[in-house]
Amino acid sequence: MLFVLALVFVLACALPAAAKDYKVGVAIYQFDDNFMTLYRNELQSYFEELSAAGEDNYNVTIVDGKNDMAEQSNQIDNFITQGMDVIILNLVQTSSADAIIDKIVANEIPVILINREPMGTDGDESYAGILDNATVCYVGADARQSGTFQGEIVAELENHGDINGDGKISYIMIEGDPENIDAQYRTEFSIKALVDAGYEVECLDDQVGNWAQAKGQELCANALSKYGDAVEVVFCNNDAMALGAAAAIQAAGRKVGEDIYLLGVDALAECVEMVNNGEMTGTVLNDHVGQSHAAVDAAIAALNGEELQNYYWVDYVKVTK
Ligand code: GAL
Repeated sequence: MLFVLALVFVLACALPAAAKDYKVGVAIYQFDDNFMTLYRNELQSYFEELSAAGEDNYNVTIVDGKNDMAEQSNQIDNFITQGMDVIILNLVQTSSADAIIDKIVANEIPVILINREPMGTDGDESYAGILDNATVCYVGADARQSGTFQGEIVAELENHGDINGDGKISYIMIEGDPENIDAQYRTEFSIKALVDAGYEVECLDDQVGNWAQAKGQELCANALSKYGDAVEVVFCNNDAMALGAAAAIQAAGRKVGEDIYLLGVDALAECVEMVNNGEMTGTVLNDHVGQSHAAVDAAIAALNGEELQNYYWVDYVKVTK
């Protein structure tokens, strides 16, 4: 009898636990964004990989917010109606974080915020929606670091970005979406790194390119025709805009590394190649693999009923030749 019981026990332990089917809703602020496309594809393939390798199955639905907060809010309503088990959310507008997160939390669905960090009302203070709930977290990179790295790359150049030797670094800044903390911090901290290192800076132009390549090209072309050789450094808050700026620089007959410097953030494959062949001075790796995997891991932890940390950070990495 004992033997039979022991056998039943051993067999029961050897049987696989019942596989679970989870519904995962992913809301991306806009599909038409180079960096978020890499991020989104990696997110999806990592979920597929885990579904294939493990017992549980993750049915992932990814929707395009088209940079429209009303559209994204409807998509979240649909996710709630569809009974998503977890939501991964790349907000269109971080200022709408309260309303959206309250709605999701009220429906007892865990939410993993990615890429666009909502800030407290004091700017620097952490966002209460994250701190107050064990089922809400933010996964991302600290944009201050990416800005600092851009500034340091310039400071580390032999002439420290002062090509004409007039004692100051004259730059133009091409900014991403101004509501986005990534744009704000990269703009601020790239220059702060230069000033902190003791260099004098002069801002010739600071314009909003909304993360877009075509806008980056247009703004850089305008600034080059207005300020000509006075422009020594072109800071772009991301690589897509730096790609545009590179085209404008070339069209103006200027040469990166000789009479101008060009910086981006993201380390898109084409930009890393440009850094290697001297067409860009440097970029900063915005680790979409690390961030998307951390987001998926947090989502799975939440699905397993674990309490989430408030923040999960992934480091940026400086990219130079
Ligand atoms: C930034 C990234 C940009 C853009 C933006 C969207 O982190 O550097 O290229 O994708 O996110 O929020």
